Amino acid sequence: MVATNRNIFPQQGTDWEEIRRELHDLKQLDVDWMTHPLPGYLYYFGEEILENQLEAHNLYSLENGLGAGVAFFSLEKMLNDIYDWVRDLYHGPDTMGMTFTSGGTESLFEAIRTARNRARARGMTDRLNLVIPYTAHPAIDKAAQIMEIDIVRVPVGAECRADVEAMAAAINDQTFLILGSAVCYPFGVYDPIEKLGELALERDLWLHVDGCWGGFINPFAKQLGYPVPKWDLEVPGVMSMSTDLHKFAYSTKGASLMLQCHQENKDRFETFSISDWPCGTYETPAFQGSSGAGSIASAWAMIKFLGNEGYLKTAKAAMDATVQLTDGVNAIEGLRDVRDGAPVEGNSMAVMSIDPEVDIMAVADLLDEGGWHCSRMRKPLAIKHSVTPHHLSGVEKFLKDTATAVERVRREGLKGEYDGRTY
Ligand SMILES: Cc1ncc(COP(=O)(O)O)c(C=O)c1O
Repeated sequence: MVATNRNIFPQQGTDWEEIRRELHDLKQLDVDWMTHPLPGYLYYFGEEILENQLEAHNLYSLENGLGAGVAFFSLEKMLNDIYDWVRDLYHGPDTMGMTFTSGGTESLFEAIRTARNRARARGMTDRLNLVIPYTAHPAIDKAAQIMEIDIVRVPVGAECRADVEAMAAAINDQTFLILGSAVCYPFGVYDPIEKLGELALERDLWLHVDGCWGGFINPFAKQLGYPVPKWDLEVPGVMSMSTDLHKFAYSTKGASLMLQCHQENKDRFETFSISDWPCGTYETPAFQGSSGAGSIASAWAMIKFLGNEGYLKTAKAAMDATVQLTDGVNAIEGLRDVRDGAPVEGNSMAVMSIDPEVDIMAVADLLDEGGWHCSRMRKPLAIKHSVTPHHLSGVEKFLKDTATAVERVRREGLKGEYDGRTY
């Protein structure tokens, strides 16, 4: 952020009414996501869900996750309930360990940190590396950078899935972890988790499944009849998985889970504890110290509120929207979904141009001008949709606007440029 003027620190307080007005005015600066659903960022499916998640959050806005089970026994009870619920949902063994984190980034960080510490304890003392598919989320690179671990991104194979043979070939003596996504963020497809599990067992590696995007869609999409392969803790070889609650579980933000098959690994290689300072032992399960209890309460309340029945409805809306978007863009001359007509597996998709006269970035520019906020991707050059249930309300308008934009780009020979960003 660069200073634009020399605003000084507020000297007196401001009337609350004025602040409230200002907050509402500030919101006018943002994309109108209610009429033009955003690609990702926020997860909205009606006022009832929003009001309930906020009420639970607000009830616990002062409490602190750091005190769960010490001062706040209610938080401990909620975490125990969440533990039981997700163990059931993800086929976790009785030995499962769970860490509540601030988001997918922290869950991935924790998985890598735990596996790294275990590798070190097993005598891997040189610089370590991890091997992941090219489609894996960049939060993994962030964790690797912080922990000074090398990262090998392996090109994906057919259908945009992890190429297990190529990953096997990339593994060396210093590899301690491999990863698969269920589903991957760019294209919404499942990496072959069972095959990755076999590879992990064969090479004695830690396999992490990134279910941050799919965790609260996959089990319900399966019940709805979508092609969902085995992907969670039931797969032999999987050591840990991450699943975000602040996405499709409808918790307020700051909520994700890192689950691992063996509590023992959590105790030995994840829990951080220090006693050598003036106060007593300081122990935290993950990266955060003080943490929002509101997101714990909100996650607990929303899982109870929606349950299997509710999540079937929310997942259905997200998947229906993805299917409609995919079919709709395939029907527009010159456009094609990147997976080239393959059946939809997850609620993420990308649209590219198959007509040299249709510059897809120019299409995105026109859509942006019309009030949409297009997410873009580089390989291949495409418009990306991270589809949420709210998109269902905008599919028709989006497809109409897209068809109009394509026509205009073709007619006027418009060209666009990609600034390199997705978010
Ligand atoms: C597959 C996947 N992993 C990790 C993340 C990172 O999650 P967060 O933004 O909550 O840190 C995302 C976010 O969209 C994701 O889709």
